[in-house]
Amino acid sequence: MSIKTISDLDIAGRRVFIRVDFNVPLTPAGGVAEDTRIRESLPTIKYAIEQGARVVLASHLGRPKGKPDPKYSMAPVGERLAELLGAGAEVVLTDEPVGDGARKVVGDLKAGKVALLENLRFSPLEEANDDTFAKGLASYADVYINDAFGTAHRAHASTVGITKFVAAKGMGFLMDREVKFLGKLLGDVDRPFVAIIGGAKVSDKIGVLDNLLLRVNQILIGGAMANTFLKAKGGRLGRSLVEEDKLALARSFLKKAEDAGVDVLLPRDAIAAAGIKSDAGTVVPASDIPEDLAALDIGPETARGFADAIARAKTIFWNGPMGVFESQPFAAGTMAVARAVAASSALSVVGGGDSVAAIQKSGLANKITHISTGGGASLEFLEGKKLPGLAALEV
Ligand code: 3PG
Repeated sequence: MSIKTISDLDIAGRRVFIRVDFNVPLTPAGGVAEDTRIRESLPTIKYAIEQGARVVLASHLGRPKGKPDPKYSMAPVGERLAELLGAGAEVVLTDEPVGDGARKVVGDLKAGKVALLENLRFSPLEEANDDTFAKGLASYADVYINDAFGTAHRAHASTVGITKFVAAKGMGFLMDREVKFLGKLLGDVDRPFVAIIGGAKVSDKIGVLDNLLLRVNQILIGGAMANTFLKAKGGRLGRSLVEEDKLALARSFLKKAEDAGVDVLLPRDAIAAAGIKSDAGTVVPASDIPEDLAALDIGPETARGFADAIARAKTIFWNGPMGVFESQPFAAGTMAVARAVAASSALSVVGGGDSVAAIQKSGLANKITHISTGGGASLEFLEGKKLPGLAALEV
């Protein structure tokens, strides 16, 4: 089984339906707050335009619960896309994802021009992977391309159902790059291979931790999930966030790591404060947090230790922040990791919304080998799961 890429398919003059992931963060006023996912889709869209295809783009935005909601209209996304395409490019937005209006817009589309369907999740049939809705989408497509890696873990009408009703299918350049780089981490890698895993919950990351355990040499754990591991080892965590019901899971993971000879580095010190609104924190031992304080970032000694391990690595995967980095007093640990990953000449892959935001904030994104546009999708890929959006492209 293999998957074709857009450049393997004949698209000149044809209607090319490209499923993109334009699920981008919005500003409170409804504008596009961060456009990485739109930018990352440009190579595929521009290629289709240059080939003279009639380009039909489709995405979801947010979770509008299966009915039209102006707050989640694709309009601002279409405007940003037109700006990014430049040279007076026009992106025509349809009034609904499937229907007479959309049919007319697509029917009138000239070669090299772009239409954007309104938010797919304005219909409940998208997430239900409904055949009738999928057929409606397929009626706009001579060729189907999936470039929405961020949504490849969802079995929806636009990612899976539609592929049953199109004659030709394949992936875009972004999907191809994501699969190539994330796939490298699951294959033969240069060693040491260091995984840095952070974020709030052990339960969100245990699948990835388990699958990476037999592949990596060292795992560095930060963020609130480190608290659960520290408590599992007998630490006193004060008011820190701890998943009490995951202590046994954490203990069993640490035992598996020991048996496998994989070094797990937990924080030695922490920045603790009364709460995330505090103006500053105090450096305390990570396993002995005062009763009235919570650990909100890794401490300086831990950050140095993590940076040293990262400097020795030849392959790096990073997912999840080391602390509450959105708040300046608790950002130092995450930023230290971002700088260390950026300074490394190793193959570095960063995945997941928060760590990607931290890398962007550090201004060092261009020093990373690959920044994944997938949050849940990159985790499920590295858990070793078969992503339905990818499986549906196989021929
Ligand atoms: C994402 O942002 O992870 C994808 O766009 C999928 O969105 P969802 O979690 O709402 O399905």
